[in-house]
Order: sequence, then structure tokens, then C-alpha cells
Amino acid sequence: MSDPQTQIITIDGPAGAGKSTVAKQLAAELNLSYLDTGAMYRALTLKAIRQDVDLEDEDALVTLARQTTIDLENHASRVKVFLDDENVSEAIRTIEVTNKTFYVARAPRARAIMVEWQRAIGGRKGVVVEGRDVGTVVFPRATKKFYLDADIGERSRRRIAELREKGNDVDADKLTAELKERDHKDKTRNVGPLKKADDAILIDSTHLSIDEVIGEMLKHIKKDG
Ligand code: DC
Repeated sequence: MSDPQTQIITIDGPAGAGKSTVAKQLAAELNLSYLDTGAMYRALTLKAIRQDVDLEDEDALVTLARQTTIDLENHASRVKVFLDDENVSEAIRTIEVTNKTFYVARAPRARAIMVEWQRAIGGRKGVVVEGRDVGTVVFPRATKKFYLDADIGERSRRRIAELREKGNDVDADKLTAELKERDHKDKTRNVGPLKKADDAILIDSTHLSIDEVIGEMLKHIKKDG
């Protein structure tokens, strides 16, 4: 296998395909760190909402990004997200932040700043990184690239189960509609759209367990390493 210190494994795919769970476990398995790029977009969105920054104003988002520090810490399989030293790990997962993150995601110059941060983190040591454009834009020369997909029905069921487990009251139809809307926005934006890199391995997790997905990935990583 290539030097683990410099290995970069990318996992792109739509919301609810299982990227986070898989990426965290794969990182632990390979002794690499884990980078959740979506958490960065979410954290900047949270700050913009709190400071009443106009989400449609790209200049304002760029200025805000330049005044912001986002840190991601891995503690075993638990990940903490810090926004200017405040732990926002929970606060970035609200429905409001989830549904408003597309403003930052579609703003090219705000995106460029996020990409710069991600490359800086990924350049320090080996990493498993998940997102929408990590194999296409952020790390085009990654050691190994995966595109993790699943049926919309299955992704929706997983999200509903996850939210209900946390005690949330979920309207299933509304959640499915929001997921579809997010897919559409992710796939059609002009910068960093969600798409499979030509050299990424496609894994459909619809009928696979987490362990099966990880097993499949390890097989590919070890085969060519
Ligand atoms: O993975 P997530 O659901 O936490 O991501 C939240 C949003 O952030 C997602 O809908 C689009 C955006 N995002 C992005 O544009 N590029 C990435 N590499 C990761 C996330």
C-alpha cells in the first residue's frame, strides 16, 4: 500500500448515502484522519445566519469566511467541529442550516476558500475525506476515489430513522422532498457540482450494510495500494 501518511481517500455522493459513517470507520481502520467537508460549509452558513449576513451576497460571504476559523477535531470515531473556537458540532446539524447551506456551496469565491482550507488539512497527513467535489475538484490526484450512492427511497428512510432516533418528529414526505431538492441543487450548481469523478469507483449502498461498503472499499484500496 502507498505511504499511509500521504494517502488521500475521497468519498463523494449525495446526502444520506452513508458517507459520514463509512468515512469515519474507514479512517479508523486505515489509521488516517477524517475530514468532513460538508461541516465546513455548514459552519460558515451557521455563522452567516447568526450574524444576519445576506446569504445571497457573495462578497459578504467571502468577507465572513476570511474572518472565520473552522477546526475539525477527530477523537477516536467522534468528530468535533469548532467555529471560531466554539463547539458547533450539534448546531450545524439543524434543518435550517441544512437547508440554507446551498447559498455558501454555490458561491464560487466562498467555495474557493473552503477548498483551500480542505487542501491545507489534507496536505498535512493522510486523510479520508467526504463531500460532493472532493474527488473531482479538491483532491483530483487522490490515492483512491469512491462515489457512494443509494436510492432516494433508501436514503430518505435512513435519514428519517436517524432523526427519529434522536427524538425528532419527522414528516417523511417533507424530508424526502427536501432531500430531492438538495440533490438537485448539489448536482446542478455551476461550481463543484456533485458528480462522480471519471476515475472514482461507484458503490451503490442501497442493499449493503456499512460493513459491506467498508469491506468493498478496503478490497479496492488494498488491491492497488
Ligand atoms: O455532507 P453534508 O450534508 O453535511 O453537506 C452539507 C451541504 O454542503 C451539501 O448539501 C452541499 C455542501 N457541500 C458542498 O457543496 N461540497 C462539499 N464538498 C461538501 C458539502
